[in-house]
Amino acid sequence: MEPMSEHPIELGPLPQCWKRRHLLGLEDLTAEELTAVLDKADLFKQALVAGTRRVPLLSGITNCNLFFENSTRTRTSFSLAARRLGADSIDFSASTSSLSKGETVIDTAKNIEAMGADVMVVRHRTPGTPHLLAQNLDCCVINAGDGPHEHPTQGLLDILTIRQRRGTLQGLTVALVGDIAHSRTARSNIWGLKTLGAHVIVCGPSTLVSPRWKELDVEFSYSLDDILPRVDVLNLLRIQFERQHDRPFPSVREYAHLYAMNRDRLARAKDDILILAPGPINRGVEVTPDVADGPQSAILEQVTNGVAVRMAVLWLVTSVLRAAPVGS
Ligand code: CP
Repeated sequence: MEPMSEHPIELGPLPQCWKRRHLLGLEDLTAEELTAVLDKADLFKQALVAGTRRVPLLSGITNCNLFFENSTRTRTSFSLAARRLGADSIDFSASTSSLSKGETVIDTAKNIEAMGADVMVVRHRTPGTPHLLAQNLDCCVINAGDGPHEHPTQGLLDILTIRQRRGTLQGLTVALVGDIAHSRTARSNIWGLKTLGAHVIVCGPSTLVSPRWKELDVEFSYSLDDILPRVDVLNLLRIQFERQHDRPFPSVREYAHLYAMNRDRLARAKDDILILAPGPINRGVEVTPDVADGPQSAILEQVTNGVAVRMAVLWLVTSVLRAAPVGS
């Protein structure tokens, strides 16, 4: 086990452009704001990779992970990020809470805030839940996934991973492939990537990719094989069986035949194609194990970047809270 190290890191000043107490989505973030988060996340990543385990910038702050849906990566990395920053972090478990006695989501959140939470990281199956809480609470609210709407920190960590590998987003062609219809990651990626100058293609079966997505100023395609030769980055979105009422394709085998990233497709892609997946992945459905674990894949690097991104977001939103405490 590594000894715990504690270093001050040179983060530089708080970015002038950052005025947000909440992070609810990437739709309305400017290029300057997105770049500010990515730049700070890069610095936190460098410190973590160098072995720093504590950057105690948020001691005295309390973070609560208010998750009404399951999570492995997002909840764990928010907990770790908060603790790395010296904050307290607590996890709320919906299944053992008083929601079962009829307490509302707003009352639940208000009660946790009354215990001293400064930050509420919220995941809920209903789009707009974090926005509703932001209107009703004084603490910072971070959207950790609201139904199929947005997952801003996932979008940020995907974009950070691309930027670290490629240096820029400008001019890259990024394809989001799979269950576009149910994907909150798709929307956050589209808004963040386009603001930073990437060309975005959404691709999947017609039952999961509607031409209406063109309204978001993206290209759309039903054929991975058609678009593959010109793609720089593939982000493979999980088929979200749990959100589907009817099976959107005849069989998983047929889906995999048309859309799974496998060795044959890799041979027809650009040599330096970058493979991403937000996780969890269905091995053999969206991606075969050899590709998921191969050299073009940055899937676990995304997860590592998730801690750094969440440290940056926690530091930025609470900086606004610290500058103007509620009631001041
Ligand atoms: N990518 C992602 O949000 O994973 P979890 O559902 O495990 O948090």
